[in-house]
Amino acid sequence: MQVRVNEVGPRDGLQSQGKTLTVDERLAMIKALVKVGLKNVEAGSFVSPKAVPQMAGTADLFPQLPEREFVHYSGLVPNMRGYELATQAGAEVVNVVLSVTETMNQKNIRMSLNDTARVCAEIAERGSQEGVQVQAYLAVAFECPFEGLVAPGVVAHYGELMHQAGASKIIVADTIGAANPVMVRHVLDGLLANMPAEKVSCHFHDTRGMALANILASLDFGVREFDSSIGGLGGCPFSPGATGNVATEDVVLLLDSMGYETGIRPLDLVPVVRAVETLTGASLGGKSYRWLAQQFEKQTEVAGHGE
Ligand code: COA
Ligand code: ZN
Repeated sequence: MQVRVNEVGPRDGLQSQGKTLTVDERLAMIKALVKVGLKNVEAGSFVSPKAVPQMAGTADLFPQLPEREFVHYSGLVPNMRGYELATQAGAEVVNVVLSVTETMNQKNIRMSLNDTARVCAEIAERGSQEGVQVQAYLAVAFECPFEGLVAPGVVAHYGELMHQAGASKIIVADTIGAANPVMVRHVLDGLLANMPAEKVSCHFHDTRGMALANILASLDFGVREFDSSIGGLGGCPFSPGATGNVATEDVVLLLDSMGYETGIRPLDLVPVVRAVETLTGASLGGKSYRWLAQQFEKQTEVAGHGE
């Protein structure tokens, strides 16, 4: 059975780094990811460069993306301006973000929750007319850093709203990594009452080390797509305390060892983690990284002896 791994390091990962990468460096990172088999990549965001300088130049990045016919690239857009910039740059999939609490919307995009919901729905409707897939992130779906715990009914409400507006996917996002498997069950229970599991994807941060457990809980509900970032790169500049996304190598290893097909070999991710460490200057690696790196060295030694 196949599970899609959507790499968000080039957007969610890079946006909170102290070091701003050039467009060429961002492209090098994406090429390294695609080379080892990642077929879904969030390549960047079309946002105000004043708000997020790390994402400046995404419009120049998109036309240069490799293997566009085989890889699903998406770009995050905060408003209609972003949608227009993204589609002009050739994006075929755009991601809108609806934080399900008032304060988080204000902090993130300086818009009320109501206005954000309206704009996201307008973008989804326009996308349906123009042949552009619009995926809707429901951010802070479990807990908001400003307003506390979020009721599962709120997530179901906004999920249904975006589903009705024509969003191709509803992505439940644990922006600050506060969820546990029981919370995941409650949220998915509500959301999946109104839409099939194929429409839903999950985005977990590993702040409290529970992301893999949350993925397992989501798998039990039939969810077959997950976001992750290489080496666990990331955080969110607008939500205090958020650390990186669950590491791609941890998700791929979990799925691979359980017999799910991802199209990616876990050991192939080791040199990619190293390359992204070099590019960003950040110290990276998920929970399994040390073990994976040891296996990678052994494999390389054996291959070396065979020559
Ligand atoms: N892309 C690029 N620039 C944009 C833009 C977009 N999607 N939307 C607006 N802008 C520009 C405006 O043209 C304006 O530029 P100027 O100062 O040169 O005139 C400036 O950004 C401010 O525009 P305004 O409409 O007043 O917006 P704002 O200051 O209230 O900021 C956002 C709103 C949404 C543009 C800004 O908060 C943002 O980009 N946030 C992104 C946050 C993010 O990426 N969060 C993490 C992912 S969830
Ligand atoms: Zn995130």
